[in-house]
Amino acid sequence: MLPNFLLHALLLATAALAARDPSYPACDTNANDHKMTKTGTGYSWYTTDDPVEYVAPGTGSCAYTYTDQSLVACLNPGQVNSAIVNGCHKWIELTNPANGIVAQAMVGDACGAVPNSTFGCNDVYLSKEVFVELAGDDSSTALQKGRLSGDLQWRFIIEPCKGCAMGYPGIFLNGTTDPCTGHDSHGLLRCGRSNLSGQDVNKVCNANVQTCPK
Ligand SMILES: *[C@@H]1O[C@H](CO)[C@@H](O)[C@H](O)[C@H]1NC(C)=O
Ligand SMILES: *[C@@H]1O[C@H](CO)[C@@H](O)[C@H](O)[C@H]1NC(C)=O
Ligand SMILES: *[C@@H]1O[C@H](CO)[C@@H](O)[C@H](O)[C@H]1NC(C)=O
Repeated sequence: MLPNFLLHALLLATAALAARDPSYPACDTNANDHKMTKTGTGYSWYTTDDPVEYVAPGTGSCAYTYTDQSLVACLNPGQVNSAIVNGCHKWIELTNPANGIVAQAMVGDACGAVPNSTFGCNDVYLSKEVFVELAGDDSSTALQKGRLSGDLQWRFIIEPCKGCAMGYPGIFLNGTTDPCTGHDSHGLLRCGRSNLSGQDVNKVCNANVQTCPK
């Protein structure tokens, strides 16, 4: 006979698994997909082939409310609630090969959940803030057209120091809660969650920080 708290934990685990939304095929193949690539820094890269658009803010499929200023990415349902390991609140890194700009965003919503959508597991839409950041000098044209001019590359990463310092919720690649301590995918030390912004984030997320303030 299992102790009561263990039974409870098992029931909760079963409930969490059962909560997978089977409406869309999963983009990940099994629970081991969260294992890192051999460099230990993150998943392998995806390349988009649908135009990268920006999405209207609101409360998304991850029950997370975002604004035009949020750092949010919207992925295929198979990467989010229909994934084997739900991607909600994981972090991704995006790079725009056209201008070399790199940005990070938290997965906050599902996109392409319409019949016959071409929006694949490899595709991404962005909140306005991240969209503008990645567009760089091209941002006014991109905003006018509602899409970036080329394809992006992106991959899942450990929540960056920046996300932790700004107090974003985040989860590890295996779906467990990320306490924001230890190093991120860029080797920057993360000193727990705070609610900093702007310059303060840059001060904290500095590669020279070797130990967390006591
Ligand atoms: C989706 O594709 C199927 C098969 O090609 C077609 O019959 C159907 O009308 C399409 N649905 C929409 C909403 O375009
Ligand atoms: C999930 O990943 C984190 C970070 O790699 C690790 O510390 C933790 O033990 C993992 N949890 C499970 C249940 O695999
Ligand atoms: C950050 O701010 C939010 C909203 O004001 C608050 O709920 C949260 O507790 C704060 N977190 C920390 C670590 O101060």
